[in-house]
Amino acid sequence: MFPQVRMRRLRSGKIRDMIRETSLSVDDLIYPMFVDENIDSPLAMSSMPGISRLPVEMAADDAKEAAELGIPAVILFGIPSTKDDKGSSAWGEDDVVQRAVREIKNELGKDMYVITDVCLCEYTSHGHCGVVDMEHEQILNDPTLPLLGRTAVSHALAGADMVAPSGMMDGMITAIRDALDKSNCSDVPIMSYAAKYSSAFYGPFREAADSGYSFGDRSSYQMDPANSDEAVREAELDILEGADVIMVKPALPYLDVLYRIKTEFKMPTAAYNVSGEFAMLKAAARLGWLDENKVMYESLLSIKRAGADMILTYFAKDLARMLK
Ligand code: PBG
Repeated sequence: MFPQVRMRRLRSGKIRDMIRETSLSVDDLIYPMFVDENIDSPLAMSSMPGISRLPVEMAADDAKEAAELGIPAVILFGIPSTKDDKGSSAWGEDDVVQRAVREIKNELGKDMYVITDVCLCEYTSHGHCGVVDMEHEQILNDPTLPLLGRTAVSHALAGADMVAPSGMMDGMITAIRDALDKSNCSDVPIMSYAAKYSSAFYGPFREAADSGYSFGDRSSYQMDPANSDEAVREAELDILEGADVIMVKPALPYLDVLYRIKTEFKMPTAAYNVSGEFAMLKAAARLGWLDENKVMYESLLSIKRAGADMILTYFAKDLARMLK
């Protein structure tokens, strides 16, 4: 008795390539950049090999390098020179992200799609993603919303092509959509960090973006890693509030969530391959324990297979080089 159905028949030669279901392309990639107005030369991040904080004046050069590799989009994070309890340096016309957007758009125009992360945590003295009641150590939802709207508008007016709120405040998409529409920015889409988990995989980012917090943690607003029905509700709400793209973050430990959300809503869906996911592979590769290019490719391909249309990843340039 021999098997008549043999899956191995299609596993070798050209036909193996022809039946491939998923492919990775440079068009899928969004390259995260950290722009710091306190420095005048790049500052390497020890836990994120190859990623540096850049002075504002160098943002356009780095974005240009990404464009030359074929990467279509960047997402910007800012490190301001001053922080206060409300995060006031998030929304000024001449604050760090607004300046970086202008530099990049002046240099590259339509050749680079510029997304901005909209959150207060890099700009607040306490490091939380919203306004804080210090006495009770509570992160206040509703007073935060107008500040997010204001920040998003300032990014759009500086030339951002898309805004990406990451603070997990309830109602943030409505607040931002409203603010954008009232400021003649109704064509600027919103990519919502819809299902953002309270994850230990953000560790290296907090060094990169200088966004550690002075008390507590982010679990009163970011999601419990144990939940996925809740992620579907988060995504649904953000879609109803007008989000154009929804994101799942982190990516690799949450591929089931990504798959559910893509399958359920069929929306343009992004996944954030976060700093800890990047650092793990880099560290193992440095120790000679994993083949870096192969695990990078396999990881990003898996994120795509699970349902991501686009991937925010610190590997963007590495993968673009590999695909060339
Ligand atoms: C903050 C923000 C975080 C990341 C993106 N935006 C960190 C956090 O919530 O603490 C993490 C990205 C990464 O780890 O690569 N609003």
